[in-house]
Amino acid sequence: MPLARLLFLCSLGLVGAQQVGKVAKEEPPVVVVQRCVNGSGCVDEETFATLDANWRWTHDAEGYQNCFLEGEWTPTFCKDDRNMCASKCAVEGVDAQGYANSYGVKSIPGGLELQFVSGRGNVGSRLYLREGESYKMFKLKNREFTLDVDASALPCGLNGAVYFVAMDADGQKGIGDNEAGAVYGTGYCDAQCPHDIKWIEGEANLDWTYGTCCIEMDIWEANSMATAYTPHTCDMFGPYRCEGTDCGDTEKGERFVGVCDKDGCDMNVYRFGVKDFYGPGPEFAVDTTKPMTVVTQFLTADGTDEGDLVEIRRVYVQDGKVIQQANVSVPGFDGNSITDEFCKAQKAAFDDPDEFCAKGGLKKMGEALDRGMVLTLSLWDDEVTEMHWLDSHFPRDESISKPGVVRGPCDGEKSNPEYLRQAYAQATVKYTNIMHGEIGSTFSEGPRRLGSMFV
Ligand SMILES: *[C@@H]1O[C@H](CO)[C@@H](O)[C@H](O)[C@H]1NC(C)=O
Ligand SMILES: *[C@@H]1O[C@H](CO)[C@@H](O)[C@H](O)[C@H]1NC(C)=O
Repeated sequence: MPLARLLFLCSLGLVGAQQVGKVAKEEPPVVVVQRCVNGSGCVDEETFATLDANWRWTHDAEGYQNCFLEGEWTPTFCKDDRNMCASKCAVEGVDAQGYANSYGVKSIPGGLELQFVSGRGNVGSRLYLREGESYKMFKLKNREFTLDVDASALPCGLNGAVYFVAMDADGQKGIGDNEAGAVYGTGYCDAQCPHDIKWIEGEANLDWTYGTCCIEMDIWEANSMATAYTPHTCDMFGPYRCEGTDCGDTEKGERFVGVCDKDGCDMNVYRFGVKDFYGPGPEFAVDTTKPMTVVTQFLTADGTDEGDLVEIRRVYVQDGKVIQQANVSVPGFDGNSITDEFCKAQKAAFDDPDEFCAKGGLKKMGEALDRGMVLTLSLWDDEVTEMHWLDSHFPRDESISKPGVVRGPCDGEKSNPEYLRQAYAQATVKYTNIMHGEIGSTFSEGPRRLGSMFV
């Protein structure tokens, strides 16, 4: 991996406000992505899957003392001075063995396999594709994004998630004391404005005061029982460091007054009563016991790159067969894709506030896609709501006869992280054959055409 080695040597030159560890070489797995054009095939783009900074060893830049341990900042460097903490502490590289053994991130033909609990006990992972020293910016308006997913080993309560966020390409390198940047997985944000991010704008988030917000496009949130795809808009593109009501903290009763649309406009056909579309076994239209190709198309009003985004369409391919997303029906909408009309009708039918349209709807999402967004590959469990919003009934205190409350077939009783981490430590998800390009260029009826065979 000559590129990664070169970057590491360069970073050794930094002293003072240094934030790049010197202990391990950064050796992320290579992921080859294909960019496709109708008629002329696909070209390979070499990317690296970089582990988010939150997962990395954080220690004093000159030695081996922890700056963060067991969920807490350590007082030696990080008591109450967020700048001192940031200037004295480093995020460490992860070498090839570390990716596989410490974090359960393994290279497989065509992509990655993520293991839920690694051999060394780390839980879940979140990775971003980078090109050179920056995150790869995918520009998907009037384009489609395709990958193969194997979610067969993911039980109720886990979420193998593939999504785009409006991070800065350089991971906020050069802001505050951030000398690490995208190579070390810094700069994360999403539409939940997460507070658990250790470093925001080059400062340590010492008492978790701040959150970090940005527009988010969830391509794929799923396990073997349920799936959804969901655009989330925000007042700004992001990343935006929020404080107070701007963060929209649910536990403070501020969920719908923050800068981002936390609910999003989700398409989960089970919520509309379509129960035979996605699940484990041949009785389902999409059989989750087998790998599947997941296509997401971002269609504009006039079919050009300049047009406004007006529709997000999902298509599956499995066993060589193209499978259209199931139709759903609520008062005011019949169809099988996300449009502003779908969002309005869905929110009305389920009695949910329509923050998505209030924050700009698909047009705003399209602007974010046009500027470029960062691809995130992850596997996670959910301490707060135990993934009930995806695969069970939610909110828990609502009647299951209320439209939209039932989201999947799981009873949700065994979806707490404590149980899952022990019972399903070995669970994995596989993401392979990532492609993007013109509408219709990345898939077809028949056997999957891949790699150089396709060029
Ligand atoms: C969905 O509805 C459209 C329009 O009525 C119809 O043409 C299509 O066949 C339906 N799709 C499925 C999968 O039933
Ligand atoms: C690409 O080809 C597909 C399949 O022939 C077609 O449906 C689609 O409209 C084409 N896309 C563009 C951008 O020309």
